[in-house]
Amino acid sequence: MLYNLIYRSRINKDALSAESIDDLVEKSANANIEREISGILLHDDTHFFQILEGPKEKIEHLYKKILQDLRHTEVVLITLEPIPTRLHSELGMKFFKAGEFGRMVNSNPGFYLDEQLHAADSTYRSRTKKFITQFTNNKGSDKPSKQEYKNGRSLSSRISRSETLKIASAPNKINFAFQPVIDCIQKQTFFVEALVRGPDGQPADQYLCGMNKNELHDFDLHSTSDAIALAAQLNIHNLSINFNPRTLFESTEITNHLEKTLEKYHFVNHQLIIEITEKDIIRNYAGAFDTLAQLRSRGIRLAIDDFGAGYAGLSLLAEYQPDIIKIDRSIISNIHHSGAKQSIVNSIFTCCENMAITVCAEGVESEEDFHCLLDIGIKKFQGFLFGMPTINSYSEISFT
Ligand SMILES: Cc1cc2nc3c(=O)[nH]c(=O)nc-3n(C[C@H](O)[C@H](O)[C@H](O)COP(=O)(O)O)c2cc1C
Repeated sequence: MLYNLIYRSRINKDALSAESIDDLVEKSANANIEREISGILLHDDTHFFQILEGPKEKIEHLYKKILQDLRHTEVVLITLEPIPTRLHSELGMKFFKAGEFGRMVNSNPGFYLDEQLHAADSTYRSRTKKFITQFTNNKGSDKPSKQEYKNGRSLSSRISRSETLKIASAPNKINFAFQPVIDCIQKQTFFVEALVRGPDGQPADQYLCGMNKNELHDFDLHSTSDAIALAAQLNIHNLSINFNPRTLFESTEITNHLEKTLEKYHFVNHQLIIEITEKDIIRNYAGAFDTLAQLRSRGIRLAIDDFGAGYAGLSLLAEYQPDIIKIDRSIISNIHHSGAKQSIVNSIFTCCENMAITVCAEGVESEEDFHCLLDIGIKKFQGFLFGMPTINSYSEISFT
């Protein structure tokens, strides 16, 4: 099957001089003929943009080499998809400077397309044209390189945790792992999430799966009290907890229970954030909105967890505007290599900014992803890069 792969990257000027680009182009064009690959390579002073077309396995094999090539950095995949036919029937590689290419496109928009292309292929053609136009318009090309960024602005490496404060056990002996969400602009902890853990530290799903409906309900009530009690002992200022949706939406006493517990441990309602997934809100639609309204009317904040993991998504935001959304790790992980993920997070961020909803990125584990998210405008982060979850203990984050 025929595929196309499009990516953009930043030229590593230490490893690739202007003169040696000609050499790279010549060798690549010859190698592509043997690999049955066709396509174009564009470059402006700082970036490459390449379209590769050919058999899938050959395209993927070449892309692996290109990813490791030190002559460029910040390689971002824009698309990899099956195509009906090639833009160019001629194998090899056509090379253009972006400005020159833009001028040629303006004078003859289809000059780089194979004239034999059938009208049915117009979707592929127009999509590809849009990607090319985005590049030739130089969107985002004035950003500093990630290396400059790292030298000048990296914050994750300047985060440290003070000595860990250990706690023996909570009143009902339920374990919690505490993990911070960091505000990298304010340089402080935004809130700390309490994650239920089994007696041997196992994740909540494994531990709770054996419980029936009533046991789960009791567990939820006790566990929220324990999470709040532990947070008080650990000097946690803002705490988030996760709920089994049935307990949250079907129990009449939950808001009062939470308020009383918060008061007992000298918290004000605003310090508590309830995390709930979009899937759970949708599944319990009728009861959910009433309960969420009640909690909010008392000042308890709401965060939508795992946002974008494949359920209600944006329609939920239109109907119900939470205080916070946490973008699911599946969209965050490896975002620095994916143009599609960058576009999605960019749109989520812009739309939430307009609605005054705070956006957090979950599962941030690499410097590269962190910098990419900072570029988009995200300020709040959770993930191993900023702090591992620690059982029944928490140590305050400080910025050096
Ligand atoms: C921006 C850029 C575009 C490249 N395009 C191609 C290409 O189209 N075809 C190709 O064979 N190599 C291309 N290369 C070079 C490959 O990364 C790699 O060096 C080459 O495939 C030789 O790998 P090998 O010595 O392991 O066979 C490109 C490199 C860069 C930096």
